[in-house]
Amino acid sequence: MRVIIEKNYEFMSKRAAEIIAEQIREKPDSVLGLATGFTPLGTYKELIGMYKKEGLDFSRVTTFNLDEYYPIPSTHPQSYHYYMQKEFFKHININLDHTYILDGLVKDVKAFCRWYEEEIRKAGGIDLQLLGIGRDGHIGFNEPGSSLGSRTRIKTLDAATIKDNARFFGKKEDVPKYAITMGVGTIMDAKRCLLLASGSDKSKVLTKAIEGPITAQVTASILQMHKDLIVIADEKASRDLKNKDYYQHIEKLTEELKTLTIEE
Ligand code: F6R
Repeated sequence: MRVIIEKNYEFMSKRAAEIIAEQIREKPDSVLGLATGFTPLGTYKELIGMYKKEGLDFSRVTTFNLDEYYPIPSTHPQSYHYYMQKEFFKHININLDHTYILDGLVKDVKAFCRWYEEEIRKAGGIDLQLLGIGRDGHIGFNEPGSSLGSRTRIKTLDAATIKDNARFFGKKEDVPKYAITMGVGTIMDAKRCLLLASGSDKSKVLTKAIEGPITAQVTASILQMHKDLIVIADEKASRDLKNKDYYQHIEKLTEELKTLTIEE
């Protein structure tokens, strides 16, 4: 696990976008796992800027989104379909046929979830999965108590998540109570994971996730077992980390190592 601490949201977003851009430059047909919510907005903005200014090429990229509310039509302004078009896809040269988002109105949920998992497999698996973290420790919509081996399925949302998301829907009663989400096991299958956390309201849960015990009560904590995890937190979100100095020390030395030359 690599933990990078940036001074604020803007720097966190720039750093995350740089990692995603590097992934695409190295493998132009990368498969990206994408998240919605507040946290990745700045990252998408940076990536759009890279497409416009430097021609970062998304034409061969495939994407799979983590989750979608249920039930919700894709035309609903709070659906994750709508979000992805508005905040990212319509601004870049991605082929929309290569963008997969869970269907918020599907009738046969089980068959659909199996199909989604199969499409991920057929695409060669997710190369880089972008993640935010919920205040209850969820990744995707894998709420506390979700099996750490779970696959894509329908989930009941935690009261805290419904309350958190009321800000987008106007009132609590309008927030869907269910979501279809990639499972924790699906997320863990990604070759690399990039977890972002910003703001003081994430500081406690981030500490639990990366420094606490691995538990289904904080599904993000399983990421400690991931073989290639990068966490980028801003100052506020990293406030409660016990090993903050240690992470900063390691990052500094890692940067220095890049410039190290061994004399003949
Ligand atoms: C969204 C998702 C969620 C969010 C999390 C944090 O696709 O999977 O796990 O990442 O709820 O949301 P924000 O970023 O709005 O604080």
